[in-house]
Amino acid sequence: MASVIKAVTILTVIGVCACQQLKGNQEDPCQTKARVVGDQTYCDRYWECVNGQPELYDCPNGLVYAGKNRGVTEGCDYPWRSNYCDGKQQANPPIGTDHCDWLYGIFGHETSCTRYWTCWNGTATEQLCIGGLLYNERTHSCDWPENVDGCQKHPLCNDDPNGNVPLGKSCNRYWQCQGGYPRLQRCPAMLVFDRRSLRCVVPPTEDCDVPSTIPPPIQEVEEAENIPQNNPKNRDSNFNNLPPGAIPVPFKGKSRN
Ligand SMILES: *[C@@H]1O[C@H](CO)[C@@H](O)[C@H](O)[C@H]1NC(C)=O
Repeated sequence: MASVIKAVTILTVIGVCACQQLKGNQEDPCQTKARVVGDQTYCDRYWECVNGQPELYDCPNGLVYAGKNRGVTEGCDYPWRSNYCDGKQQANPPIGTDHCDWLYGIFGHETSCTRYWTCWNGTATEQLCIGGLLYNERTHSCDWPENVDGCQKHPLCNDDPNGNVPLGKSCNRYWQCQGGYPRLQRCPAMLVFDRRSLRCVVPPTEDCDVPSTIPPPIQEVEEAENIPQNNPKNRDSNFNNLPPGAIPVPFKGKSRN
């Protein structure tokens, strides 16, 4: 591929038509307004009209052609975002690096259900699903635990699927595990969460004094704002706070109560 492009470049420079053959029904990009069209056989290739001649290009490794100015880079997108490859093949095999199956993509974590990798040109960045969400390998996004095969229950609730778990250093918020799924709860007014008995109690406790009107630390607020709740109305607003690289899965309106 590289040598083909090189040869084309050299021939173009010396003024010889080095037109790559448009085979079969392949649309000529130079006949289109956009000057670029997807390859008819391979979903990870596209033709661009350069100096009046069609030239064949590969998408960055792991991406497939989506359309001019679409996708994540160079008109190319993650293959699972749409049916780009229906009836087509991929021309290029994966090029893997540490944590990345392809140079570009979003991939599962080797040891964690709450973490995943985003890969950009082979460089992996570790990402974290927050608010009780888990990484869903099928949708490549953070998702509700019940939708994630093999990670059905959240690790927070491993000790007791129906127990309470302290939330950081919070004195009034805590996780309530319901059948292995964590839900954020808040103690009734004037009570504090006791880390020993795992219940809301009358203060003071070892860690918590009588509640004051001082706002909680910023970190605690951030943590608490990203919590999935039973109320479907809350779900959309929670998805606004997903980590970079996470693509929200539309709420399907399944009744949960
Ligand atoms: C990708 O990485 C390679 C080597 O690590 C580098 O030569 C190349 O320029 C990078 N490409 C982009 C588009 O950043």
